[in-house]
Amino acid sequence: MSDIQSPKGTHDILPRDHEYLTYVKKIIRHRCRQSGFRRISTPIFEQEEIFTRSVGESTDIISKEMYTFQDKKGRKLALKPEGTAGVVRAYLQHGMSSWPQPVQLYYIEPHFRYDRPQKGRFRQFHQWGVELFGADDPAIDAQVIYLGWQVLNDLGLGEDISLQINNIGTAETRKDYIEELKNFYLGKQHILNEEDKKRLKENPLRLLDSKDEDMVILAQLAPKVTDYLSDKDKDHYEKLKEFLDALGLEYTENSTMVRGLDYYTSTVFELWDKSEGQQNAVLGGGRYDDLVKLMGGQETPAIGFAMGMERVINNMKEKKIVAPYRDNVHIFLCQLGFNAKKKSLELLEELRNEGFHVMGAMGEGSMRTQVGLADKFKAKYALIMGEIEVKDGLIIVRNMDKGEQTTMKYDKIISHMKKVLGKELDKLRADEKADDSNV
Ligand code: HAM
Repeated sequence: MSDIQSPKGTHDILPRDHEYLTYVKKIIRHRCRQSGFRRISTPIFEQEEIFTRSVGESTDIISKEMYTFQDKKGRKLALKPEGTAGVVRAYLQHGMSSWPQPVQLYYIEPHFRYDRPQKGRFRQFHQWGVELFGADDPAIDAQVIYLGWQVLNDLGLGEDISLQINNIGTAETRKDYIEELKNFYLGKQHILNEEDKKRLKENPLRLLDSKDEDMVILAQLAPKVTDYLSDKDKDHYEKLKEFLDALGLEYTENSTMVRGLDYYTSTVFELWDKSEGQQNAVLGGGRYDDLVKLMGGQETPAIGFAMGMERVINNMKEKKIVAPYRDNVHIFLCQLGFNAKKKSLELLEELRNEGFHVMGAMGEGSMRTQVGLADKFKAKYALIMGEIEVKDGLIIVRNMDKGEQTTMKYDKIISHMKKVLGKELDKLRADEKADDSNV
């Protein structure tokens, strides 16, 4: 069994990783609530068509990276490679156009892409995403971008993040641009591989997403989408920049950034870790003003983004940002003999109900082994009971740091522990209160 591994590109979330995940989620929930976003979850799988129609057949995500399967009735389904399509489907299915607008939703969900695993790139990963429907003002774009930046800043990554922005116009205004782009690449066909040649035919915009070195250089020389914008898009872009300035957010205008999904219109943006660049963008998004209509609804402007949780946590770890550790063991209960075990079951629950984190060894280990375990779990105190203590109504309290122990009356133990561990309990309660009020 020793070579049994999790599937390629997937990983287990171990307890210490969960502490990071919980911490990041807490910050996200706090900031989302502050700005009126409410949580939604959509199924892990959807009809395959939901993604092909929205993300676009010739994108990498759809053409190469989807996990598709048929159920027993032959329905074509896919594990969700991204979150926007499912949320738009839910928006339509639940008649959210009749809710007060804008409708502001967020999700923290696993997603699946059959990508080539490498640093920051997995086959199962988690995204925090936000989607806002029913508002098209550039001030909304600025606020949505700010929310993404704010969470990264709260996590201690603000200094390391660079914001990249662009405007890619509408499907209509892009027509001329795409013709120009085609002409540009037609003259360079000898550099294109088979896949890129196919893209040139079907969806030339996607040539700009290529990660191939030669293609990245070509993209820099290619015509710029911003030179083909309508007056309305130009105005939107100019205002967005003014609003970002007003919020004090620095940005880089990146005219080759078109994002890898077909549904975008107008504003697009990414947040990069300065040391890693586009390759490992921590967050990406943009407007998708045509998507709701394309999926069968009314014309509805919309904007959103998604952040890669694993990438963010990895960056935190690299920068030695530590997530709070809340799993301290306060008390370890050691017992020997049947009556002591019975008594410790009661005591365990009493102590836990008082708010302490308590563990106990219920196996038959010797007292020495059990005290050794208390040490391994870094408990602050060990409480020790044998048959004699139970008979005499006593209990032994061992301060694990000092290695000192005293014997006291059993019925005084709760108040004693409250006294000696009072500070720990206050801290726990304050944390819990902060969780309730902030999260
Ligand atoms: P995306 O750029 O494909 O956009 O993904 C958003 C973020 O998810 C990326 O910036 C990255 O941090 C993370 N990510 C993507 N693929 C992987 C992977 N294989 N392994 C680890 N992390 C990954 C979207 O998905 C759009 N739905 C965002 C959006 C929402 N646009 C509008 N609303």
